[in-house]
Amino acid sequence: MTKPNLLSGMQPSAGSLHLGNYLGALVNWAGMQDDYNAYYVIVDLHAITSPQKPAELRTNSRRTAAQYIAAGIDVTKSALFVQSHVPAHAQLAWVLNCITGFGEASRMTQFKDKSQKAGADSASVGLFTYPILQAADILLYQPKAVPVGEDQRQHIELTRDLAMRFNARFGDTFTIPEAVILKETAKIYDLQNPTAKMSKSTADPKGLVNIMDDNATILKKIKSAVTDTEGIIKFDREAKAGVSNLLGIYSAISGRSIESIEGEFEGAGYGVLKAEVANVVIAAIEPIRERTQELMSDQNELDRLLAEGADKANEVAEATLAKVYDAIGFLKAAK
Ligand code: AMP
Ligand code: TRP
Repeated sequence: MTKPNLLSGMQPSAGSLHLGNYLGALVNWAGMQDDYNAYYVIVDLHAITSPQKPAELRTNSRRTAAQYIAAGIDVTKSALFVQSHVPAHAQLAWVLNCITGFGEASRMTQFKDKSQKAGADSASVGLFTYPILQAADILLYQPKAVPVGEDQRQHIELTRDLAMRFNARFGDTFTIPEAVILKETAKIYDLQNPTAKMSKSTADPKGLVNIMDDNATILKKIKSAVTDTEGIIKFDREAKAGVSNLLGIYSAISGRSIESIEGEFEGAGYGVLKAEVANVVIAAIEPIRERTQELMSDQNELDRLLAEGADKANEVAEATLAKVYDAIGFLKAAK
């Protein structure tokens, strides 16, 4: 039996992924590669919806790719590629722009948030059509599953609406994809502000553990994590956000249940818990960081792997785009 397709994407907008990206998304992506024919796209076209310095964008695209490979994306099983290497993304996005309502696009909450932050005059039209480009990313690969975080649910709903609309108007063309929303327990919080999710845009860098941080930095950040004054190691997201986050991180990395970890640390102080969490985090991240550095030191090889990924992606994407162009009535160019 052939495996169903899967697609997901990540922005190359930072020099390092953080622990939340790793435990919340990447571990799951790596785990799905055997059951799905997976396409993982580094969305550089999306990245330029907010201003990027060209040299940084280039480096961050490579670094993002290197970290995904280092963390378990196996390029012999899955296609890992850069969005701008596959022209069909921009081409299909145009077609989808033309079947999306202005009001429909205006209702996207991520656009509303981001454009408010940027200020009405500096938000670009590209930011407005961001979700439609995302729909194109997805629909080109006819995936059944799109693993994403909860914040992407609305974009996947729009993608489904556009796919159904296109199919109804122009004939069956697209598979209707399903969001696979990663579970809440995999959500990692900021170490300094443990009611907010860990995010690269945090106010205090001490709250954020990066995959590219060295061991001493990771240890220091975890040791200075905010806890409480009760002195009891117990999971309670409301009353004990800091301790619960440490337990959540431990559980996500070790695969053990929260109860068994609570049992292990019964009667122990927060210092002991932090030291042990730092241990498991470092044990998980150190090999990824080292492998990333290795991959980054041979840029030609990394670029070659991405070119292979783009070849696999282009084959599928071009076939879907050809169907779309034909369905809407574009003339085929004579050979
Ligand atoms: P972002 O860096 O926000 O673009 O997110 C990339 C991926 O990582 C998405 O699938 C997010 O859902 C996931 N992610 C980001 N931050 C966290 C977090 N603190 N905990 C769990 N998953 C996260
Ligand atoms: N918008 C997604 C995010 O911010 C990134 C993304 C772009 C994506 N294209 C995609 C995710 C296609 C899944 C499928 O995380």
